[in-house]
Amino acid sequence: MDQERLIRIFDRQATDYDRKREDPQQQRWRRNLISDAKGDVLELAVGAGANFPFYPRGVRITAADFSGAMVEKARQAARHYHLDANCICADMEDMSFPAQSFDTVVSTLSMCSYKNPLGMLEKINRWCKPDGTILLMEHGIGSNFMVSTLQRALNPLLYRIYGCHHTRDILGLVRESGMLIQRAERYSLNMVHLIWAAPQQ
Ligand SMILES: C[S@@+](CC[C@H](N)C(=O)[O-])C[C@H]1O[C@@H](n2cnc3c(N)ncnc32)[C@H](O)[C@@H]1O
Repeated sequence: MDQERLIRIFDRQATDYDRKREDPQQQRWRRNLISDAKGDVLELAVGAGANFPFYPRGVRITAADFSGAMVEKARQAARHYHLDANCICADMEDMSFPAQSFDTVVSTLSMCSYKNPLGMLEKINRWCKPDGTILLMEHGIGSNFMVSTLQRALNPLLYRIYGCHHTRDILGLVRESGMLIQRAERYSLNMVHLIWAAPQQ
């Protein structure tokens, strides 16, 4: 799918993502993960800022998303939660930062939409300080045969509607990137992964 069409798909979902802030299960996962952020934080593909309520005090956030509508919602959320956040409209896959710029790199529900998720994880490795933390909450292919068969069958349709792949092997990609997994939790028939990792040294 071309990039402009993908951006339009996410622009249209911005209001829905803003409302998802209320989903109690997602809130639990986000609180669990994001409470471990510290220092200078990079949040990839920030969406409507669903993680913003859960950041500890004192963090300085750089957040980006290629959907202008999502960035607008994220800026409103940052103001609402009194966060020190710089929300940028940019394609994460084209962005560059000096190596070892961030104490924490956060990505939630974004590996499903990149053209090159492994390349993105390798960038995260470079951008995170050696003693920093990578916090991921990502969804992908489940371990249940029936569910994964359904995910594979529906994936082309779901990608066209939501701009999001449902068949990615999240743990496999994270391992291949060389990240050092320190803690991992799995939910929803192993489709959702919460991962605390250190960057590849
Ligand atoms: C499924 S939403 C998740 C949003 C948010 N991270 C969250 O946890 O609610 C995926 C987000 O990734 C953004 N996105 C997808 N590909 C991107 C890219 N290449 N660069 C920047 N943002 C991207 C979309 O605009 C959308 O906001």
